[in-house]
Amino acid sequence: MINELIVLIADDEEDIRDILAFSIKSKLNCTIYFASNGEEAIEILKKNSVGLVFCDYNMPLKNGGEVYKEVLKSIQPCAYVLCSTVNYKTLKDFEDQSAFLCSIIKPAIIEGLNVAIEKFKTEFLSTYSDKVHAYTPISIGLLFKLNKMPGDIFIKISEDCFIRIIKKGDSFDEIEYAKYIQKSVSHLYTFNLTNNQFIDEIERKILSIKSNTSNHYIDAQIQIHSILISTLKDLGFNERLLPAITKQFEETASIINKNKSLSILLNRILKNERSYLSTHSFLIAAYSLTLATKLEWLSEFTHTKLAISSLMHDIFLDDVIENETLMLQNSRYDHNFLTHPEKAVELLDQIRQIPANTSRIILEQHEIGFSKGIPNGKNMSELSPLGSLFSFCHFLADHTLTLHARNDLTNAALLKLMMDTFTESAHYKNFFKQLEEISFFEK
Ligand SMILES: [Fe+2]
Ligand SMILES: [Fe+2]
Repeated sequence: MINELIVLIADDEEDIRDILAFSIKSKLNCTIYFASNGEEAIEILKKNSVGLVFCDYNMPLKNGGEVYKEVLKSIQPCAYVLCSTVNYKTLKDFEDQSAFLCSIIKPAIIEGLNVAIEKFKTEFLSTYSDKVHAYTPISIGLLFKLNKMPGDIFIKISEDCFIRIIKKGDSFDEIEYAKYIQKSVSHLYTFNLTNNQFIDEIERKILSIKSNTSNHYIDAQIQIHSILISTLKDLGFNERLLPAITKQFEETASIINKNKSLSILLNRILKNERSYLSTHSFLIAAYSLTLATKLEWLSEFTHTKLAISSLMHDIFLDDVIENETLMLQNSRYDHNFLTHPEKAVELLDQIRQIPANTSRIILEQHEIGFSKGIPNGKNMSELSPLGSLFSFCHFLADHTLTLHARNDLTNAALLKLMMDTFTESAHYKNFFKQLEEISFFEK
């Protein structure tokens, strides 16, 4: 997707932040981020491709000079405007002028701002307009999930030849999707469409799923999950997705915890045949949260971490992937597969609301101890308790799907498959004990 211009305003005075934002918005097409101290500003710079910074000098935690140091590290062009009562020429922090656009002397903010923006437009803006006129790839999976196209859609014929094949507002249905799968086309292209415009359409779609009362609550969550993971994979993390992502973690944990019958919940998930990844993720969530409750691992964070891990651990796998456990058992995996836990963690690390140690669970998703797991073949003593529970439930979910496909899904058959997998089951004794008391499936 296209990088829109992101402007950061760092000032500990709210009034100044508001005045700056109001004037900047009227002059530049951009997204504005705010920081009320230097440390917050540095965090935002680390996690986003900021193109223009308006920064106070004297702020709590870290000053404008420390923020400028971070701007100098930026890989993409980033312009810095000091907005302070302090004269920058008296400060050593600004000796390197390579990213220093100009300074605005408070209180003459508006006059200074006009000069700064004109200077920015002349010296920096071409970098962004070049990017805005670009074709950007979008997976056909995401286009299909969105159904209604947020802009014209193009197919790439050669490096500089694109042909429009779908008009803005038209639908991309199952037939279209199948047509491109058959032709081995995995991506189509948008033109001159910003992340924000794309996310507007995603928000509309999520809202329409939620407001459709004929949708069962689990079906709705599964459908939203499928859209969110494709969006994360295609666009990367964007702050605007955060409310939908965190809401999904909370709602999924709450649905599972409130559910009186695990068997009804599991059957409901199995009935939804949207994709392996979605069914697999929700089965793991149902199993791991239920087992954690039975084991009396009741802290709110434990459940949040398990819900996040269940829904996000496989973001980087293809939608069309088959049963992961069967792939591993038959050694049908490649480098891409071996690194998918690591890639998921890299993306989730950008979301600061995610509780600490969730990454470890995701990294251990295919580690079962006894040096048998992937990617590191860890021993039992190296695994975290939540990681062990998660990978145990990961097997449980995949074995459930295998038996379901064979039309042989019973408690006894599932337990047998689990026992066969965890032959050295002493370490997992406690999990098996809980498992034996639960009635999952009756024929
Ligand atoms: Fe996985
Ligand atoms: Fe998985």
